[in-house]
Amino acid sequence: MISKKDQLFNLSTNNTTYLFAITETGHLEHLYYGKKISSEGISHAALAEKRSLSIGTGTAYSSDNPTLFLGNLCLEYSSMGKGDCRESFVDIEYGRGMQTLDFVVKSFRIIPGKPRTFSGLPESYGDKSTCTTLEITLKESGLPIRLVLTYTTFEDSDVITRRSAIYNDSDRTITIRNLASLQLDLDGDGWNLVTFDGAWARERYMHERPLSPGIIINDSKTGVSSAEHNPCIFLTNEDGECIGTNLIYSGNHREVVETSPYGKIRLLTGINPSQFSWDLGPQDRFQSPEAILTFSPKALNGASQNFHHFVNNHIIRGEWKFRERPVLVNNWEATYFNFTEDKLISLAREASSLGAELFVLDDGWFGIRNDDTTSLGDWTVNPKKLPSGLGGLALEIHRMGMMFGLWVEPEMVSIESQLYKKHPDWMVAIPGRKPSVGRNQYLLDLTRSEVRDYLFKMLSDTWHLADVNYIKWDMNRTFSDLYSSNKEIKNHGEFLHRYVLGLYELLSRLTTAFPNVLFESCASGGNRFDLGMLCFMPQTWTSDNTDALCRLYIQEGTSCGYPLSTMGSHVSTSPNHQTLRKTDLEARFNVASFGVLGYELDLTKLNRQQKEAIRSQISFYKANRSLLQYGTFTRVKWANRGANHVVWAVASGDRSTLLVLFAQKLNQSNPGSDRLKIEAVDLNATYEVFPRQQKIDIRTFGDLVNRISPLAIAEGGLAQDTLSKALSFDSEVEHYRVSGELLANAGIKLNQQFGGTGYDGETRVLGDFGSRIYICKKID
Ligand code: DGJ
Repeated sequence: MISKKDQLFNLSTNNTTYLFAITETGHLEHLYYGKKISSEGISHAALAEKRSLSIGTGTAYSSDNPTLFLGNLCLEYSSMGKGDCRESFVDIEYGRGMQTLDFVVKSFRIIPGKPRTFSGLPESYGDKSTCTTLEITLKESGLPIRLVLTYTTFEDSDVITRRSAIYNDSDRTITIRNLASLQLDLDGDGWNLVTFDGAWARERYMHERPLSPGIIINDSKTGVSSAEHNPCIFLTNEDGECIGTNLIYSGNHREVVETSPYGKIRLLTGINPSQFSWDLGPQDRFQSPEAILTFSPKALNGASQNFHHFVNNHIIRGEWKFRERPVLVNNWEATYFNFTEDKLISLAREASSLGAELFVLDDGWFGIRNDDTTSLGDWTVNPKKLPSGLGGLALEIHRMGMMFGLWVEPEMVSIESQLYKKHPDWMVAIPGRKPSVGRNQYLLDLTRSEVRDYLFKMLSDTWHLADVNYIKWDMNRTFSDLYSSNKEIKNHGEFLHRYVLGLYELLSRLTTAFPNVLFESCASGGNRFDLGMLCFMPQTWTSDNTDALCRLYIQEGTSCGYPLSTMGSHVSTSPNHQTLRKTDLEARFNVASFGVLGYELDLTKLNRQQKEAIRSQISFYKANRSLLQYGTFTRVKWANRGANHVVWAVASGDRSTLLVLFAQKLNQSNPGSDRLKIEAVDLNATYEVFPRQQKIDIRTFGDLVNRISPLAIAEGGLAQDTLSKALSFDSEVEHYRVSGELLANAGIKLNQQFGGTGYDGETRVLGDFGSRIYICKKID
């Protein structure tokens, strides 16, 4: 809902209110963002900044307004040169280096629903029943330039989106140096900043720090949204309030959080001004990406649940919206580049017999790609590896009753490729200079329409031929040597944004041409996990790191901004290929099941015990899949906040079923008792609570197994190995019937953990990195 009374704009969602007002000078003063206040109770006078006196060394807006200091007002947008010296929302150079700007309100309109914009950028969607849009046009006081601020309220998600546009009504080119998508100015009530940072194989670990005077920047300059710093950030405070923002954009982004000398907080998010400048010709316009904003009084869990609702309802689109995602088997870590058609078929047979629904052929199927030095760009099958072609392989997979999926990395070119020989100028490189290289590969210039046309044709021909049901779209290097021979580009500050626009155009064509195909985006794991890609591809490969311990941090961090339905999570082999850590097969599944489940290991090498374990994992996952992909997710004890016992819960909408992960980072000797306490239950209901039954590998016990074996079994020896193939222990059986109140308030004391004093069928054997899933089911 959006309304305007006198000078005050009131934007409300089901549970929040956002208020701002037009000042006497025509600027927009932000007044409030938080829990819902009914419109009758709102007083503009009570919320406005009091300014009867001037401020020491402050610059007043003008001599007519001697106590109006833009530098100490909470504003909806800002610019340089009129007394506000904080980081600005918009910077434009309009002649001889001049940059002073002063936008004042000219008009506004309130539109039911959400009109589409002109930008070519992906955006959220909703209809008149779910959203309302406010468009405010501001005019620069001395120049023919307009700034348009657009707000859309998504009532059902408690989300407000924002975007901005510049219109050049003059007859001269102006240069946009910076245009943010969102600005939020707040009074500083002890806020902490939460960001999600990392690198390859350790994406989106969560970091929290208190704000203090000065500026904190969370950004990417890599060309992609990046594993380094995700565009999703939160502000939290001690009262349990939380504000979150994210950006629907896949390129360089920047979030600025500034604490002013007067203790006001400014939050800005948008395209990163670093390496960006945009020449805007006469009568032309430029649109920022859309940013999303939420508030919750229920801390970070509440804000992230709002984001989950928003992403599932207003970002993900097409055939796969709210559709349960298939359990996949991917051959990458099973074979890397070294596979034959026979090997793939035997992997697929195992996959199908264990219950997988989708078989994905990863890197190495095209050109002469036997390692990562060649062939990117040549999207034709390698007949030596696949004599029956992609079509033949796909047919076999389909005959097994599974879907067929294919890996591609279309944005890249190898020097050793037919494509490079034919079109060396399609590669991103500065003429006369040797370009920098990542994973032996180079970027294709997606700003050029002929490059996009080539890719569209090559890819769509191949995908038709292979009758694909799924595509994994990879991207394995970041940007360097920014240059394009595209004649349209006069100013190379435009290159990165034009690349992102080119990518979106290509994705839009391909996803429209293949509406039934499930797309999964990937960039060396999770180097481009963002809302822009999710507008085209409903799921993202979260990380190349599938270690059960690391995944507690990675999935938990990622889940703060993105729902479980978007997070590709695989069970891989042990020792893990990224960390060499040994973890239990059941523990790997328990963590991976909180996401979109897949397996990425050589299934043909598993023993009978392991296959049985996987079969029952997949059947458990399928039985609970709608919950594990679309349930309401709460982090009870956070891996990223230092808990040794990490607890996550996912609940059905009516709270009739909850699945709770209880994961242990490190085993404690002689441990105390563990408690299962879950608040997200129905307090008036009665629940049955019990753990998912899993297998305990006898090798877990080392040579202690001799205490129960009539024969001497050497630790790590052949006998132990052989025995483990045929024998495993069942995990403990615990069963409780308890009230919701008990679960929420007291919690259940769980069976004793193994403590070095013995073992019976009741003992919970978790060890290092071990876990259980508890099922809580409402009894009628
Ligand atoms: C990086 C991806 O993250 C991996 O899953 C795999 O697809 C490789 N690329 C293939 O080169």
